Amino acid sequence: MSNSSQSTAAEPQEFEPRIVAFLCKWCSSAGSDLAGVSRIQYPANATPITIPCSGAVSPMYILSAFNKGADGVLVSGCHPGDCHYMEGNFLSRRKLYLVRNLLQFIGLESDRFRMSWVSAAEGAKFAEVVEEFVSDLRTLGPQNRLAAQRRTNAAGAEGAEAVRTLKATKAKR
Ligand code: FES
Repeated sequence: MSNSSQSTAAEPQEFEPRIVAFLCKWCSSAGSDLAGVSRIQYPANATPITIPCSGAVSPMYILSAFNKGADGVLVSGCHPGDCHYMEGNFLSRRKLYLVRNLLQFIGLESDRFRMSWVSAAEGAKFAEVVEEFVSDLRTLGPQNRLAAQRRTNAAGAEGAEAVRTLKATKAKR
């Protein structure tokens, strides 16, 4: 007896993007909490990192997240005019606009980086932002470029170490 609906082959798993989300504590972080307590369903792909202000996010944090294997990075702050530090989000917007160009320069799709403005009262909006980002990243696929580069660099370093050891051994003979 065979059942055609049963399959012995494993189903291909849908790609689940890993997102690092830098969330301003005054707004977007509280917005994500509100989404949670309001039981709004959204993908659990984002790892939140609470920051004092979106202006505090250094481009190095973003590159580091990609370098450690993130498929996407989100920075979310207070709406323009609502920043607790007056101009932090404007500063962030200018600074992080350049990050998109930098990503392209190093060969990453600029759409892997996203900025949003989400207030503490916008739990539903936060869920939408994450949902949309996850969907776009699924289309882009996994971010392997920096991980592959890291592997190549590590292999290069190991190779150089092996050559040094070999030379040292020959010199002792
Ligand atoms: Fe939220 Fe500056 S305090 S973006």
